[in-house]
Amino acid sequence: YLNPRMSDKKMNGISKINGTEGKAPFLIGVSGGTASGKSTVCKRIMEKLGQVDMDQAQRQVICISQDSFYRELTPTEISKAEKGQFNFDHPDAFNETLLLETLQDILAGKIVQIPTYDYRHHSLNKDEFLTIYPADVVLFEGILVFYFPEIRKLFHMKLFVDTDSDTRLARRVPRDINERGRDLEQVLNQYMNFVKPAFEEFCFPTKKFADVIIPRGADNTVAIDLIVQHIREILLNKGRKSEERTLVLPSPAFVRTP
Ligand code: CTP
Repeated sequence: YLNPRMSDKKMNGISKINGTEGKAPFLIGVSGGTASGKSTVCKRIMEKLGQVDMDQAQRQVICISQDSFYRELTPTEISKAEKGQFNFDHPDAFNETLLLETLQDILAGKIVQIPTYDYRHHSLNKDEFLTIYPADVVLFEGILVFYFPEIRKLFHMKLFVDTDSDTRLARRVPRDINERGRDLEQVLNQYMNFVKPAFEEFCFPTKKFADVIIPRGADNTVAIDLIVQHIREILLNKGRKSEERTLVLPSPAFVRTP
């Protein structure tokens, strides 16, 4: 039995791996409006499963953000973005094809590399990739992860983080100013012109596709505990299955029927 993570290390971390059937992860989509607490919900889930203080390659549960799949902007679009006049909340802002192909590769148990996103420059970090190793559970979070039908149907479980819009705005303003290098006027203009209308048109309607709706986001420890419990059962079953695969069966004469 070849541990896929080991085989990847031997292959220098970039190549896709073969022979990983059965390693298809349980794919969980986590959506919700901007600053609803999607990343914090994912972080809590990973903490409760003891996955945080662990080497990336050894994790059984990993988290990916849809922001890694923003498409590259043209110079004109970048100058619009710098004035808060580009719509980052519209489905067209994303590279849907790359998103779909990457999730399909992940579901096929392949090692993939995804870019990281730079909010200050509105661009993908070309030299900073995250290597995603095969895991048992993959959390995929973003404002529009349930919007594209072909992508939506890939999820085994869909969560929607449902936080009041005033709470979300109150979180988003200081975050954009302190962490994303924006000024107040730009943040509020972008919010009123693009973020809020796009949430109502594209994100909120996808709530109906969710299996579980989490009111109040990461504060909702009861909901998070229930989800964690469910993931634990999945991990346990996956563990059992892989033990079955590696079991060397005795010759038929020794097999006892129950
Ligand atoms: N965005 C932006 N500038 C960019 C790219 C994206 O302002 N160059 C904004 C979009 O307007 C979008 C938001 O980033 O509304 C998406 O990120 P968000 O969902 O708010 O961040 P997360 O940390 O993933 O979400 P949460 O706070 O729910 O954890």
